[in-house]
Amino acid sequence: MKRIAIITSGGDAPGMNAAIRAATLTAISSGCEVFGVKRGYQGLITGEIMELTSMAVSEILHQGGTVLHSARSKEFQTVEGREKAAIQLRNLGVEGIIVIGGDGSFRGARELSNLGFATVGIPGTIDNDIQCTDLSIGFDTALNTVLDSITKIRDTAVSHDRVYVVEVMGKNSGFIALYAALAGGADAVLVPEIEPDLDQVIKRIHTVNRIGRRHSIVLVAEGVYGDPLSGRSFTESAAFKVGTYLNLKVKKDIRITILGHIQRGGSPSALDLTLGTRFGAKAVDVLLAGENGKMVGWVDHDVQVSAMDEAIARKKQVEPEIFKLAEILAST
Ligand code: F6P
Repeated sequence: MKRIAIITSGGDAPGMNAAIRAATLTAISSGCEVFGVKRGYQGLITGEIMELTSMAVSEILHQGGTVLHSARSKEFQTVEGREKAAIQLRNLGVEGIIVIGGDGSFRGARELSNLGFATVGIPGTIDNDIQCTDLSIGFDTALNTVLDSITKIRDTAVSHDRVYVVEVMGKNSGFIALYAALAGGADAVLVPEIEPDLDQVIKRIHTVNRIGRRHSIVLVAEGVYGDPLSGRSFTESAAFKVGTYLNLKVKKDIRITILGHIQRGGSPSALDLTLGTRFGAKAVDVLLAGENGKMVGWVDHDVQVSAMDEAIARKKQVEPEIFKLAEILAST
């Protein structure tokens, strides 16, 4: 294999640039030419493709986001769109493709495999909801961003004896909310994987008040009441629903904060930088070994290779025992 392309797709994640850099430098060191596809699968269709050299990937490690940009592409979901993409790749003589993104991006990679290209997936999404890896690129940085935000919100909650409902991202998974609740000491956490019980949240706020603490932090995953990307209006946000209900039932000053896209930005953490680097290098090794339809992941403290179809088949769910721990710590 002499020509490899790299695509970043779906929501960007801090650490993607580390994966792009490591994959490019590893491939070049093995005598390959590397191409970067801009704007995900849509850019592949329109031919927004540039050569990636050592110079092109220098000084990108510390940058959040993806220097290749990303986009969601409806056209790639059509046979005609995928054929246009394949023609672009064939014209360049590209044989192998590294796709950095979430499960939706991996589904696109599988379509490219079906068109005769060797593909390997790198899990890159702050949601951390990809099977076959304990961690996806971006999750650790996003978690630290949320933790910093909770710490800042707690200061004003204490000053004003308020209840803050803080909405975090995660699409239809609760990893960000759950781990931020553990790390940030939230009084309650609501995740899409578990039926929300707002009366239980109210009980917890009253318990906290009885023991003398007059402020509370309630963490809510954005997907608690359904897919946040289903085109619902802003006023249908999870935080809005929870805050409105608490306002009716609790005689406290309630405020809502929706953290939104700050969770996607920022300079990557050391963990995301090393994870992205390890994943990028391994992905090239997998392609040069002649493998196809694989993904790299972080399992048992090392990089492991799995079948991409496993990650496409089902999303990773939050561990119930971790949710139980969060509940115990919040209610004691
Ligand atoms: O998948 C990453 C993610 O940040 C989700 O947590 C969130 O629901 C979604 O992307 C937001 O998508 P967009 O950036 O297209 O609004």
